[in-house]
Amino acid sequence: MKIFLIGFMGSGKTHWGRIWADHHGMAFTDLDALIEQAQHQTISAIFEEKGEAHFRELEAAALRSLTDTAGIIACGGGAACFHNNMPWMNEHGICVYLSASPQQLLDQVMGEREQRPLIKKLNKAELLFFIEQKLKEREPFYKQAEISLPIESLAIQSLEAYITH
Ligand code: S3P
Repeated sequence: MKIFLIGFMGSGKTHWGRIWADHHGMAFTDLDALIEQAQHQTISAIFEEKGEAHFRELEAAALRSLTDTAGIIACGGGAACFHNNMPWMNEHGICVYLSASPQQLLDQVMGEREQRPLIKKLNKAELLFFIEQKLKEREPFYKQAEISLPIESLAIQSLEAYITH
């Protein structure tokens, strides 16, 4: 089976994805890391040199390359919102939305802006505004997930009810 973790930057998709994969003896794939490996470039460099639209194409292709891959897949924060990726993921696995408030997300990403091209030049006030706006735009996509889990409730057993081997 495949579980896609979706949600905004800083919601803990990679962090919890590794923990849950380890706990359930499942493979773990990080979609951004997969793109970086295939392109021999960081996500930041791809955004800078080729632009966001090109990155979204690489992202959609990387996702579809996982058709035969089982396990837990942590997606980038925008993956659910482009190229019909959300219906594709719902068709090929179970989507889990890690939901968080703008303030929770701000606290998480404030110290990690450098590796995130969309937010690296923003100060704290701009970042909060950006998160509020983008979250509003993205939530209709995120909410198409079969399962929504608020980040403050996450625990090692959170996926137990949904995993079938
Ligand atoms: C993005 C989130 C990033 C990465 C890219 C774009 C976004 O992933 O895919 O920088 O559009 O929200 P994380 O959510 O893992 O930071």
